[in-house]
Amino acid sequence: MTAPLAELAAQLPHLALKTAPADLEYYGRDWTRRWAPTPLAVAMPGTVDEVRGIVRWALLHGIALVPSGGRTGLSGGAVAANGELVVSFERMNRVLGFDPVDRTLTVEPGIALEALQAAAKQHGLIYPVDFAARGSCSIGGNIATNAGGIRVIRYGNTREWIVGLKLVDGRGDLLDLNRGLIKNSSGYDLRHLVIGSEGTLGLVVEASVRLTDPPPPSNVMLFALPAMDALMKVFDVCRRGLTLSAFEFFTDRALHHVLAHGAQRPFEGDSPYYVVTEFDAASEAQQAAALAVFEECAGQGWVDDGVISQSEAQAAALWRLREGITESLAPHKPYKNDISLRISAIPAFMHEMAAIFTREYPQFDVVWFGHIGDGNLHINIVRPPGLDDESFIAQCEHVTHLLGERLQHFGGSISAEHGIGLVKKPHLGSTRSAAEIELMRGIKRVLDPAGILNPGKLFD
Ligand code: MLT
Ligand code: ZN
Repeated sequence: MTAPLAELAAQLPHLALKTAPADLEYYGRDWTRRWAPTPLAVAMPGTVDEVRGIVRWALLHGIALVPSGGRTGLSGGAVAANGELVVSFERMNRVLGFDPVDRTLTVEPGIALEALQAAAKQHGLIYPVDFAARGSCSIGGNIATNAGGIRVIRYGNTREWIVGLKLVDGRGDLLDLNRGLIKNSSGYDLRHLVIGSEGTLGLVVEASVRLTDPPPPSNVMLFALPAMDALMKVFDVCRRGLTLSAFEFFTDRALHHVLAHGAQRPFEGDSPYYVVTEFDAASEAQQAAALAVFEECAGQGWVDDGVISQSEAQAAALWRLREGITESLAPHKPYKNDISLRISAIPAFMHEMAAIFTREYPQFDVVWFGHIGDGNLHINIVRPPGLDDESFIAQCEHVTHLLGERLQHFGGSISAEHGIGLVKKPHLGSTRSAAEIELMRGIKRVLDPAGILNPGKLFD
């Protein structure tokens, strides 16, 4: 153990400190698997005081800290590849309180999203932000990226549900932000500055989340579509005829991977595009509306085929076709894009990008899917066999540059929900002006004057 680490262990005797090579490897990386993890050690605080102690120690020794939740991130935000101390919140994973009048849960940052959702359910309420990594990701990580997921069209992003945050900033100070208030017009809302800041402004040590009533019973419908142009037309018909909680799409290439990974084929025939939509189906009228939507879309030639779930098991099987995509692609180590557009700009943007991909990547397997109902497209590029990591990434970076140019033209964003981290750092300028980035740097300097909090992520 190095001298500074021995000092940390002596100062905070209850802190769990891990230095075994397998732990450094496990806690030093996220789902990107692109950088070799080389953390100094992994610290697992159990209390807020220990977190403050870690920050003070880091200030004294000039050691960088990488906050760590479930490490399901896809942008390298939780990677420790430069001798940093990983601060894992694995031990700080408790529910601290429930307030039935405020309808809030107060939790520690390391709680898994699924455990938080289960805690809300025990009180007859829901925490509605949801996505496939729910079992492994933590609320602290969700806050760091302002995570979105599959029900944003109904419930919004993580930001909408955080009513209070406690944060240890880069000076070791504890800030208690917004304290559960619904209305608070008293100057800058620092809580919202922290949400989406990717661990660069402070370490979240406690969060209060708002809960809501469970939705009415729902059904899931899967459509097969003959053409890209039909996607937003079907969305329009669904939005007018149904009360939607999700509207997701994927292509035949995504279906190919998810079927190869064990999912069940939904239709006999093949179509180039698919949509999974979830909608309220509490009454016969709402169920009849779903059939009417299908008939209208089929009549217009916008869908080839469709199926409506008849049971929870069937709904789960249809969801699996969409939610299983990331896992089915993971063994191929795809290059990921996670972009955001106004939904009105999607058709024109998709056409332009499809042409660019055909021109630039004729040999690549380009897998489109995502939360098209809220303007968030995931474009994963699967490496062709035989191409080495370096050449593959260089080629992908070139196309991300072209993607950034088109996003700039359409006023979109290079990251919708995964964050910038290390992966999209070179492309931040396609979404944020130089003046904005300079202001962000200035804000970081105030909250983290020594630059010890997740340095090198988001920007340099
Ligand atoms: C998803 O929505 O499944 C993930 O955010 C997308 C991805 O893995 O690229
Ligand atoms: Zn997503």
